[in-house]
Parts: sequence; structure tokens; C-alpha cells
Amino acid sequence: MENKKLDQAVDKRRTFAIISHPDAGKTTITEQLLLYGGIIRKAGSVKARKTGNFAKSDWMAIEKKRGISVTSSVMQFDYGGKRINILDTPGHQDFSEDTYRTLMAVDSAVMVIDSAKGIEPQTKKLFKICKMRGIPIFTFMNKLDRDSRDPMELIAQLEDVLGIEGYPMNWPIGSGKIFKGLYDRYNDRVALYHAKDPEHPYLKLDDDGNLKQSNPIQDDDIYKEAKENMDLIQVAGNQFDRDKIMRGDQTPVFFGSALADFGVQTFLDAYLDFAPQPEEHTTQDDQVVQPDDANFSGFVFKIQANMNPRHRDRIAFVRICSGEFKRGMDVTLERTQRKIRLSNVTEFIANTRENVQTAVAGDIIGLYDTGNFRIGDTIYTGKQNIKFQKLPQFTPELFVKVAAKNVMKQKTFHKGIRQLVEEGAVQLYTSYSTNEYILGAVGQLQFEVFQFRMKNEYHSDIIMKPLGHKIARWIDPDQLDEKMSSSRNILVKDQHNDPLFLFENHFAERWFKDKYPDVKLTAKL
Ligand code: G4P
Repeated sequence: MENKKLDQAVDKRRTFAIISHPDAGKTTITEQLLLYGGIIRKAGSVKARKTGNFAKSDWMAIEKKRGISVTSSVMQFDYGGKRINILDTPGHQDFSEDTYRTLMAVDSAVMVIDSAKGIEPQTKKLFKICKMRGIPIFTFMNKLDRDSRDPMELIAQLEDVLGIEGYPMNWPIGSGKIFKGLYDRYNDRVALYHAKDPEHPYLKLDDDGNLKQSNPIQDDDIYKEAKENMDLIQVAGNQFDRDKIMRGDQTPVFFGSALADFGVQTFLDAYLDFAPQPEEHTTQDDQVVQPDDANFSGFVFKIQANMNPRHRDRIAFVRICSGEFKRGMDVTLERTQRKIRLSNVTEFIANTRENVQTAVAGDIIGLYDTGNFRIGDTIYTGKQNIKFQKLPQFTPELFVKVAAKNVMKQKTFHKGIRQLVEEGAVQLYTSYSTNEYILGAVGQLQFEVFQFRMKNEYHSDIIMKPLGHKIARWIDPDQLDEKMSSSRNILVKDQHNDPLFLFENHFAERWFKDKYPDVKLTAKL
């Protein structure tokens, strides 16, 4: 692709993830977006994959589900002159470190909140990572067709709980049974929820925010309240600040109902007005790689194992940071400095309307992997060595003790653990006092996948003894005294031999802090 064409192709890319707590409406809104993109013809297509009610031990079902989830891991479509990549961030039982790592591969995030519930724990965790990355975050307050919290309270919660300014782009006129629509200053219109004439669902507003043509809604108290609130916010609320939005310090807030497909397209249109195109990436030695650089580069942010024992291949998901991917191209794998030919590749672009089947900076490709790649690996073309920044480590919350079932088979056990830990499947810790292995994860599925792969790839049966939820806090080795350890704060070391405590609960952590006020404890992300 010549330079100008590459430049234009990159400019069109918008790559984001939807973050939310389970049940807030992520699947429903994704489905609406795919409908607008012409990828699916009726709602329910994406949902179908969620309904498989499988037992956790039923590997065939998980495999089936995972098989599907590879194709829905990245959903690409064209809309409004842009090529959009939505990266799935699995929740529920699928929640894992990969969910977090996916956020390292996007340029912006959409946060979906259930307006009746406000901000929930999983949203908070995922938000923290977006915030750390300083990417723009756009908020959709969902389920307005049901009774919701006071919108003022929802906006205030953004600031109080997440520490991000909220800027309402529209305002709900009531909610639940008395939901009338959206007062929309951004588009100078009122969107009617039950428009009498479906061809004309909007009432226009003049420069002062009054209806251009009179309509009975203007005498409605709920409408008056919404208008007053919006006026008040315009004067006394946060000022719209594009720079803050781009840094992730302010979030544009949209209200609506994904299920009723109300406010979703308005959201998508406005989102595309502001969402950033692929940005530059910095390497470990501070080189800046521009997305329209002619040389190809990218990094592996997730590795998904095939759960079918007959197909041991994996898929390494690569975010392209610069240049263009061409099937069969040779790239350098930075870690080994070896050349690898990219011939067996999944491109997530099959459904776009355009015929140009290329992947450029901003896009994601899936490489079939027989064990070459690790999470965080950089691949590139050209003479210049490129090594992108390390992916952060995330603080695990769930722990199990792990041992080989057959004590005579230590070799395969250790080999399996070493390789899977290197790949980033789970975190490994070693107890100071007993030298036992402890695994850490952010979601239960990570352990299940680990156990399955140990058996199928390394022929190692393992015993896992749950330790439950723990709070992991690292301690400066100079401040460490092994006597500080107890059954309520187990002392372990991580893969890099750094010491940390696994606290039983917040109470145990507070107790420790009171006892050793000078000892500094730190969490990872
Ligand atoms: P998730 O991916 O974030 O977990 O949420 P999902 O979209 O699956 O939505 C969770 C539930 O909330 C679903 O109901 C869905 O229909 C409902 N929902 C999503 N958006 C809205 C909305 O705007 N208004 C209302 N009233 N409900 C909404 P469910 O009963 O769990 O599933 P289903 O029976 O509809 O499949």
C-alpha cells in the first residue's frame, strides 16, 4: 500500500472495547452497533452464544463456547466512513487477565452502566486500567426504559467513585414508565421515546434550547425538569473539554436504552465525532512508532488456547501498531530475533462491506501459534529493532495451591508450569515457609484452563486446593522480616523473586498496617 493510502486507511480506524459489569447491557449494545454496521440482520445473534448454560466441568461446552468466542473476540464493521474494531472483554465466568490485557490494545473505551445500579465492581476494575492508560472513555447510561437513579446522582458518582468528570451530552426525560425521551443539547433536538410519527422522532431546539415548534411535551413537568437540569449543567457543571476527554480525565455521558435501541445511534454518531484514531506507540528505548510508518509492527496482547485436545494450536492476538499486514510476510520476533512467516492468520475483517481485505495499524490479527509467541511479544518488519513497552502485571485476587498428583512426575509438572506461566496463563508464587506453589488469577476460568492444559499439553495431572480470595500486596525486600508472616498473611515470592503478602481480607491488611506502620505495601494494577 502506498504511503498516502496507508495513511488514509489508518485514519479511518477506531478501535475500542466496551467495559461494564455483567448484565449492564454490553452484549445488547454491541448487538445494536453490529446492526448499524450491517454485520447482523437481527438482534439476538450475539446473544445466542451467551445462553449456552454449561456446567463448568463440561469441557466440550467450554470448547464450543471458546471456539465461537475467537471469532467474536474482535468484531469489525464499517460505519459513518470509519472502520470500527470492537474488542470483546469477557466477563462472568470468562473474566481473566486477558480481559485486562485486551484494554492494552484499544485506543478508547465505552463504559456501559446500568442506570438503576450505578457503578459496579467489575466496571471499576476495568476503568482503572483505562485510566492508567490515559485513553478516552465514553459513557453510556443504559436501561432508561426502566426506573433509574437520579441522573444527577449518576453523574456525581462518576466523579466520586471513579474520579472522572462527567459531561452529559444529553439528559433523560424521566425513566421507566414515565420515560419520555432525551433532551439532547449536543444535537439540538429532543428525541421522543414514543414518537407518534416514527418517521419524525425528533423535535428541533433553537439556540436557547427551546423547542422550535410547540409540542405538548413542553408543558410536562418531567420535560421541564430535564431541560432545567441540562441548562443548569451548561452553566454550573463541568465545561466540555476536549483535551480532558482525550486524556481520560472527562467522560462524555450519553443516556439511553440498548434494549429499546433508543439513544444508541445518537451515541455511536457522537462517539465517532470524538473517538481517536490509532495513536503512536512508544518502545522500551523511547522510540516513537507512528501508525502510518511503512514498516509493520505490533504486539501480542492475548493468547487463546484451543480447548480441543486434538487441536493443540493457540491463537496469538496481535494489535497492529504500524504499517500494513500482508499474508505470508516475514516478521522478526523481537524476543528471539528470529524470522517468522505469517501465513496462518485470522483477520477479523470478513464482514466489512469494502472489498479491500487488509489489516493496518489499529486492526487486530490472530496468528495461529504452535508455541512461538508469548504475551507482550513484539513483531516487526524492517531493520530497526522494535520492542514495545511491557504489558503491566495485574494483581490476582483468587489463589490456589497446586501440586502434581503423581510425585514421580515432577519433570513434566515443572515444565508445564514454567511454560504456561511464561505465556501469562496464570501467575505463580512460591511460599517462603513451605516452598509450595501457589497460583494466582483474576478469574476462576484461568485455573480451569490451566488444569486442562497441564493435562492435555504436558500430561501432568495436578491437584488444586482453593485458597479463595486474597489481597496481594508487595513489600520492599529491605523492610521484610519473615516473622511478619502468619496464617492470615501468607508470605510468598513472585516469578521475579519479589516478596509479597497474601492477606486473608481487608481486616488482616489493616491489622498488619497498624502493627507495622512504617512498612510500605503496594498493589500492582
Ligand atoms: P451484559 O452483556 O453486559 O452481561 O448484558 P446483556 O446485554 O446480556 O444484558 C443483560 C440483561 O439486561 C438482559 O436481560 C438484557 O435484555 C437486559 N438489557 C440490556 N439493555 C437493556 C435496556 O436498555 N433496558 C432493559 N430494560 N433491559 C436491558 P436478561 O433478561 O438477562 O436476558 P434476556 O432474557 O433478555 O436474554
